[in-house]
Amino acid sequence: MSFMMREILDQPRALRRCYKAEHKHAVELKKFAERQDFRLILLVARGTSDNAALFGRYLLELTTGKPVSLCAPSVHTLYHAKLDLRKALVIGISQSGEGTDINAVLKAARRQGAFTVGITNEAKSTMAGLVDDAFFVRAGTQRSVAATKTYTGQLLMLYMLAAALGSHVTLERVGEIPKWVASSLELMPTIRQIVERYRFMRQCVVVARGLNYANAFELSLKLMETCYVVAERFSAADFLHGPIAMIESDFPVILFIPPGKTYADMKHLAERVRKLRADTLIISAEGVRLPGHTNAIRIPASIPEVYTPIPYIVPGQIFACLLAELKGIDPDKPRSLKIVTRTL
Ligand code: AGP
Repeated sequence: MSFMMREILDQPRALRRCYKAEHKHAVELKKFAERQDFRLILLVARGTSDNAALFGRYLLELTTGKPVSLCAPSVHTLYHAKLDLRKALVIGISQSGEGTDINAVLKAARRQGAFTVGITNEAKSTMAGLVDDAFFVRAGTQRSVAATKTYTGQLLMLYMLAAALGSHVTLERVGEIPKWVASSLELMPTIRQIVERYRFMRQCVVVARGLNYANAFELSLKLMETCYVVAERFSAADFLHGPIAMIESDFPVILFIPPGKTYADMKHLAERVRKLRADTLIISAEGVRLPGHTNAIRIPASIPEVYTPIPYIVPGQIFACLLAELKGIDPDKPRSLKIVTRTL
């Protein structure tokens, strides 16, 4: 079994370990944040960690009511701009903690008056040593180049920060996520049957919206780096502003359709591309009736929308891992990639 699949299967245990170990720390952050007057939250990351940051942007704006922005590292590292970051909370996300540009931005942010927080899987990393406060994902050493349990661990940490900094999300409910992930893992046999159809897939689009938008980015990244599939990712809204023109008969479209605020919009788009004879693979909840689609992966548990992103990405991780193996590609050692990539 590949390290990628072992790390996918280890997620419920890894998430429980992270939740237990960082629970008290999140409560302390809540007390600290109540004494601060943070006006702005900035997230900085790369690759899969940047997809976690994209999720964080939605979750933290929804729960804190503060403007949240994704940082452009080159503004700091190449243009050396001086930003006024007083009253800003800058959160760096990196499983390795060795992203050269991410750490450079965090150092600059501290000099420019920000309070810096790091979310990393490596307690001895450069990032852990340079931020004001570090939260550890504790997923265990990542052996596969393709990040899976460190991605869901980063999302779990962002939920715990959201519970500390805002409302609508509670630490108690966050504690239920590992069991929802365990039920998503039960979909392995269904996904093993479905993936066969996509053995020769060379291109596809992945579409989602709102809190699951980041999952469209993450699944497409997994398909690109482990299966060498040209996988474009869009929000359902952006998709209608041009990319839908790509859709023709049998063009693979993967759609995240959880119940909740994005459901009607995603359902409408799914029906529209189905009328264009696209090959549609939907990831949705059990009991949601979406007839006429090529394939459906149905998440067993009834999960409140705000908590769907982690249980919903797991079937996507399994799909990418099984597809890589079907294509004869080792998902642990994809070409041209290493676990740690240093960019400036
Ligand atoms: C993810 O599967 C990739 N290995 C890659 O995108 C990775 O997430 C990126 O290089 C960031 O790494 P970091 O989290 O260690 O900073």
